[in-house]
Amino acid sequence: MPEPILAILIGSTRPGRVGPKFAEWFRDSAVAHGGFDVELIDLAQLNLPLLDEPNHPRMRRYVHQHTIRWSRTVERADAFVFVTPEYNFGYSAALKNAIDYLSGEWADKAVGFVSYGGVAGGTRAVQQLKQVVTALRMVPVVESVNVPFFSQFIDADGRVAPSDPMIRAARAMLDELLRVTALIRPQLDDVDPGSPAVPELAASRA
Ligand SMILES: Cc1cc2nc3c(=O)[nH]c(=O)nc-3n(C[C@H](O)[C@H](O)[C@H](O)COP(=O)(O)O)c2cc1C
Repeated sequence: MPEPILAILIGSTRPGRVGPKFAEWFRDSAVAHGGFDVELIDLAQLNLPLLDEPNHPRMRRYVHQHTIRWSRTVERADAFVFVTPEYNFGYSAALKNAIDYLSGEWADKAVGFVSYGGVAGGTRAVQQLKQVVTALRMVPVVESVNVPFFSQFIDADGRVAPSDPMIRAARAMLDELLRVTALIRPQLDDVDPGSPAVPELAASRA
């Protein structure tokens, strides 16, 4: 049986964005973790227009090829990580647009967040995202990677040079994504639920 598929979405699209740097670092962390088959999705390359489907996405009566392709991409993933900037205390319009295009394709899948920004490390964007993803029946995990004053973690070659807390946070989030995926997608029966990140949970499950 293959590993569950983790799709990592780059949530910013503007020229000169740093989103791909953090997404590529996290992609490498996820590959090294070994629990998932990892895919990277760049919303800039996807280049979705502003939502232009006439029907509610719950109906899946898509009329545009770009929506059908996006639907298949999201459908085949088992879990997600949204790599998000913080724009005006929120997340990007491109990410909201990509989310709104679909409905059931997102449901019953775990989602984690890599955020970056100034003093708040993108956490205000993450809080907004959590509210939206639960409307789609996604399951946001508690563990997250939040990078404050992100430019200090970009080296002279333009690559992310992570701190130890970032490395630990990435590992914890990947462990939790795998654990939650095993619980909410039991049809993927080779996924080992593993140990909960929160010890009290272990007691309640025993
Ligand atoms: C339109 C806009 C709004 C921003 N608002 C915030 C903000 O509210 N909080 C923050 O920490 N950084 C903010 N920033 C700075 C971003 O953290 C920084 O530009 C970062 O590089 C954005 O991610 P990106 O390069 O992937 O687009 C803002 C940047 C832009 C372009």
